[in-house]
Amino acid sequence: MQRGLLLFLIFILVQQTGSSQGLFKEKYRPQFHFTPAKNWINDPNGLIYYGGEYHMFFQYNPQGNVWGHMSWGHAVSKDLIHWQELPVALNEENDIAIFSGSAVADAFNTTGFKKQGTVPLVAIYTGNIENKNQSQHIAYSLDSGRTFTKFEGNPVIDLDRKDFRDPKVFWYEPSKRWVMATVLADEKKIQLYGSKSLKAWNLLSEFGPAGDTTGIWECPDLFRVPVVGSAGKYKWVLMHSPSPYMQYFVGEFDGIKFTNENKKDKIYRPDYGPDYYAAIVYNNMPVGDAPIGIGWVNNWNYANQIPAGDWRGAMSIPRTIAVKRVENEWFLVQQPVEQLNSIRGPVQKQVSSQPISLGSQSFDLEWSWKDDGVGVSEAVFGNFEFVIRFNKEKREVEINRSGGSKNFQNKAFHDLGIFKAKFPVPSNGLLKFRLLFDQSIAELFVGEGELVMTAQVFPDMPLQQVQFGYSTTNPTPSASPSRLPNEAIEVTLRAMAGYR
Ligand code: FRU
Repeated sequence: MQRGLLLFLIFILVQQTGSSQGLFKEKYRPQFHFTPAKNWINDPNGLIYYGGEYHMFFQYNPQGNVWGHMSWGHAVSKDLIHWQELPVALNEENDIAIFSGSAVADAFNTTGFKKQGTVPLVAIYTGNIENKNQSQHIAYSLDSGRTFTKFEGNPVIDLDRKDFRDPKVFWYEPSKRWVMATVLADEKKIQLYGSKSLKAWNLLSEFGPAGDTTGIWECPDLFRVPVVGSAGKYKWVLMHSPSPYMQYFVGEFDGIKFTNENKKDKIYRPDYGPDYYAAIVYNNMPVGDAPIGIGWVNNWNYANQIPAGDWRGAMSIPRTIAVKRVENEWFLVQQPVEQLNSIRGPVQKQVSSQPISLGSQSFDLEWSWKDDGVGVSEAVFGNFEFVIRFNKEKREVEINRSGGSKNFQNKAFHDLGIFKAKFPVPSNGLLKFRLLFDQSIAELFVGEGELVMTAQVFPDMPLQQVQFGYSTTNPTPSASPSRLPNEAIEVTLRAMAGYR
């Protein structure tokens, strides 16, 4: 009896820590989204295509699985899907932590860091002295980002402030100079600076406060994107993270200042779920390639507590970004990079009004709902642990995780249970949905990608099935399983292989 109890307790412990399953197989560990082998990560940093590799640096704590001792971790990939994690690239030193930033390839040797013909990879980051100072620093690498030398003249911009951070730098060809977007976080302002050398910088202009001004502003990015359906036409996007979500503006950039052309009194988000933050786009992409962004799948309200393991934090699937004009507004259009299709398993097509068995906890599920302006369609995953609804009268998509994740007892997480967003594009006929589900991450792409919603879910039991339902009336948001008649629907389900 005693021994039985002991074995049972050991069994429970092993279940909870996931250690029986080995590294990368732990409970809730995403399989096709990037996670570090060990320790904490947050924002993607220094995204750059350089030397035939996609580099992803990221905010990393080399000492543990909660935020602290910020350094830049490093991973590389040939296809944006299969990642190899490398040793820490930039370490906290002399009490200066390495906060978020970007990386550029200094092809014209504007810094003078070039040696023996090697184009320097230059990192531009915020040096953070806790509660004292945030200023912008640079460091360069001549070995493809494996090791960096910090510039002896750091910092390169110091305003003697505590809330000045997250430099995103890009080359602006018409003025033949570097442009940096950075934030005065507390003032909710984005500042743009210009430089010929990455070392001396002048303030060009300021943007904000505007749109969502509830939280502090972090992680700005300014980049040019193609316009859907107009070959050769581009707009500029100013995107950033008003904590704990993200927003974007679309307009023009003249080399000095950004002008917003979207509605002033409306908030536009690259992701309408609770868990997409600090996304930036790749620098130095091959000419003609669409911009590609990656975000951190988390929310500062509970990021340090999510039930992960020795590791904590994940990145989104890289997304291609374009803009689309609908009436007099601009919308971001995002899609998972095509390379993701290389790890999809065989197609399992099903037409059923019965629950559809999911099998794997890492899957790619596609379906369409008729956009006829009547009633509500819904897809219920597991035992109401996760629900997707499409209210056709309101043209509203909802993701609802409020019926699940019961073992994760965190008020902030459960307070953010239901997220709704208007579908921005009037369309007739069928509206497409694609859900990338990966153990504890749900990324939902709607339509052509005009609406994206990302949420973490921590199912108490593996999700066995999805049940599609339909109602001509607007259902109350109760979780009664018998509420809606089943809907015979055609789905395309594919199990996903892990990236390792
Ligand atoms: C955003 C952020 C940045 C900062 C970094 C610190 O998530 O707060 O503003 O540079 O994380 O890790």
